[in-house]
Amino acid sequence: MNSLTELASPIAVDVYRGRRERVLAAMRAQGGGIAVVATAPEVLRNRDADYPFRHDSYFYYLTGFTEPEATLVLNASAQDGEPASILFCREKNAERETWEGFRFGPEAARDAFGFDAAFAIDSLDEELPRLIADRPALYYALGASAEVDAQVRGWLAAVRAQGRSGVRAPEEARNLLPLLDEMRLVKDAHEIAIMRRAGSISAEAHRRAMRACRPGMHEYEIEAELLYTFRRRGAQAPAYGSIVAAGANACVLHYPAGNAIARDGDLILIDAACELDGYASDITRTFPASGLFTPPQRELYDIVLAAQSAAIEATRAGVSFDAPHQAAVKVLSQGLLDTGILDKAKFGTIDDVIGERAFARFYMHRTGHWLGMDVHDAGDYRNADGPRDAQGAREWRTLAAGNALTIEPGLYVRAAEDVPERYWNIGIRIEDDAIVTPNGCELLTREVPVDADEIEALMRESNQD
Ligand code: GLY
Ligand code: MN
Ligand code: MN
Repeated sequence: MNSLTELASPIAVDVYRGRRERVLAAMRAQGGGIAVVATAPEVLRNRDADYPFRHDSYFYYLTGFTEPEATLVLNASAQDGEPASILFCREKNAERETWEGFRFGPEAARDAFGFDAAFAIDSLDEELPRLIADRPALYYALGASAEVDAQVRGWLAAVRAQGRSGVRAPEEARNLLPLLDEMRLVKDAHEIAIMRRAGSISAEAHRRAMRACRPGMHEYEIEAELLYTFRRRGAQAPAYGSIVAAGANACVLHYPAGNAIARDGDLILIDAACELDGYASDITRTFPASGLFTPPQRELYDIVLAAQSAAIEATRAGVSFDAPHQAAVKVLSQGLLDTGILDKAKFGTIDDVIGERAFARFYMHRTGHWLGMDVHDAGDYRNADGPRDAQGAREWRTLAAGNALTIEPGLYVRAAEDVPERYWNIGIRIEDDAIVTPNGCELLTREVPVDADEIEALMRESNQD
């Protein structure tokens, strides 16, 4: 595992080096210091079997390095000739490599990933006290991991123990993550290229699942069709737990792929997508098990699709992050009144429905989230400072070109006496991934149909196979 050959793309050395340079420049502007970014720990699953290793996203963003047991150190106080960008990683080990596969070792990693220097991870606790001594500040993921917090305490204690020889521990600990979060919010060309490929693979997986679906199949059998395509096209893993929900299960927002059988007349909601080279995609499609929507299913489907179109229309640089959500809520609320799911006599006008949040009983999540290395990606949704709204919350961030987000309205109608019976147990979500552009957005996941007629046409083709 973790060899060069595991990467679907060549190592983009200049991209990672460029990001490290930006971090170093920002630290220098604040007076210098040392930053420490560790990758994720390996996690035991049971007895002697680990969960599949997944690197830490921040570490990967700055290194491209996917082996476990690795730490990046950035020295913004380095003098001329001193290394500023240092990797600590596992040493070469012929015996371990026989069991576990290739590992770079410090020397090859330094050259392949463009670090100034690299050392064995075993020397981290010896080197770090020396590196942080007499530096003004230590930057790291403050409070994010008990393990890293303990390591930092150990390094600081080691420096303080030498106090009599005149060295001083950094006076300030600073959180490195806000700086990295701001960088991660705007995707560069390298990231967008990977996200386009991830979106394409996930879209193919949804097409395959739609084509394979027949009444009588279990949810897990449909899930298998998705997983097949992810791996066949080189994605490393699902980006999150796949949701495959038949019938009323679609009204459970985080329902996993389970054992239920998709019956004639059921809708299937699939929220599943792959992670490719460290980047998530995130797609939801909802389609009829039989290949044909029933009239009430189609009514609600078209409302959700119209809500998504309105949200897509509202997604562009310069508008509030909240604008797509408000656009979707307006269409969904009108649809809830038009269908009688919300009784006009009781709930009044669309403004009342929105103002009193009556829609939230049937649409209880937001219309999107940042997307990137993490499916719910890093980055603030609201401005760090500036005015606050009536509830005291800071204002929503303004969308900028290069932001990546999902657009995912839905309607979830459970059986209830005050709701027309024809809509009972219908759960629908439609989700695509978008990159914000100056005048609109680019959808990354439209290689799978979203229009109800096109979905039926795709399923008709496969029923003839
Ligand atoms: N699949 C997780 C989400 O849609 O937020
Ligand atoms: Mn999502
Ligand atoms: Mn999703």
